[in-house]
Amino acid sequence: MASKGFGFSTKAVRGGEKPDSAGAVSTPIYETSVFAFTNTKRLVEVISEKAEGYLYTRFDNPTVRAVERKMAVLEDAEDAAAFSSGMAAITTTVLTLVSKGDHIVASMDLYGGTLTFFQEVLPRFSVEVSLVDASNLSEVENAIQENTRIVYVETPTNPTLKIVDLHGLAVTAKKRGVTTVVDSTLASPYNLQPLKFGVNVVVHSATKYLGGHNDVTAGIVCGSKEFIQKLKRMRKILGGTLDPVAAWLLLRGLKTLALRMEKHNQNGMQVAKFLARHPKVARVYYPGLPSHPQHALAKKQMRGYGGVVSFEIKGDFEKTVQFVENLKLCFLAASLGGTETLATQPATSSHYFIAPEQRQKLGITDQLVRLALGIEDAEDIIADLKQALNKI
Ligand SMILES: Cc1ncc(COP(=O)(O)O)c(C=O)c1O
Repeated sequence: MASKGFGFSTKAVRGGEKPDSAGAVSTPIYETSVFAFTNTKRLVEVISEKAEGYLYTRFDNPTVRAVERKMAVLEDAEDAAAFSSGMAAITTTVLTLVSKGDHIVASMDLYGGTLTFFQEVLPRFSVEVSLVDASNLSEVENAIQENTRIVYVETPTNPTLKIVDLHGLAVTAKKRGVTTVVDSTLASPYNLQPLKFGVNVVVHSATKYLGGHNDVTAGIVCGSKEFIQKLKRMRKILGGTLDPVAAWLLLRGLKTLALRMEKHNQNGMQVAKFLARHPKVARVYYPGLPSHPQHALAKKQMRGYGGVVSFEIKGDFEKTVQFVENLKLCFLAASLGGTETLATQPATSSHYFIAPEQRQKLGITDQLVRLALGIEDAEDIIADLKQALNKI
């Protein structure tokens, strides 16, 4: 399908797919690890990348390719590559871009796994990382060195939902010849398309909104044709390719992305407003609330604000444990972006392995709760939060 001129929902349903030779409207699962050739000339053309084609599923697969084409359409990118997890997407992207002696400027507000990769793994290979508050662009600019190759951020950040000015970030990095990589997991392409602001590469944990049903683990990277080709060569070596069954689940999830995101956005607003008025809640983090310090930037940059709402309970660690354990409808579970509402204390989940002093710096207190709102009725989620708050 030519994607130009169509709306987001049409692109989500139809983008990147076409009936196969049997006329299948739903892209089939090509559950094969290897592809046969009728002659050596063709095999050599495919292996040398002189011709398009399929050879081995770790390299490429038609179901995986369909999801990549659909994601490229949704992010308005030249191309995309799919991975077996968000972390496989992130690590392969970074390892494609850096070599020994290089430097990365990264936001300090990153997913715990990414932070651990930056702080514990990369320095072993002589790649140094400077952590900055990326919501302050002068901090980013001042941290860029001669050997900086990547500026790496998330927006909104997890779990305190800070917003990064992507246009400002792209201009700052481009001036110094540095590649910008944005983890856009918390926004999804429905709410934010980072490439439109001049960013170079977008990564997603597709385990979240893109898959959307808490049933698939996957990652996606979108960028220029040239970069995706290099990335796929690295993916062949590191091996973090997406499995065809998971690719099919992701394709299926993506078709309803717009519908689901509308509901996540509505639930986010309603729950944030409820929490902001509740006497047992000390503080609410949600970019859709006018009280959020970067609400104007979020409004300019995003279509909606998503389904993640974080808040601090008036109380201590024990009271917060009591609260999350009192929830009946919402699951105590550490993910986001799915149909079911999940609640966690970041201090005991996503940021458990981060040193307590660093957690404090990030605003991740013992009484912070992250709600990943699903697509249930807002009234039912609010009733559950109310009864759990009443008990503490
Ligand atoms: C913002 C963000 N990026 C990346 C990841 C890693 O993705 P995955 O769990 O699919 O490897 C996560 C996981 O929670 C995340 O929240």
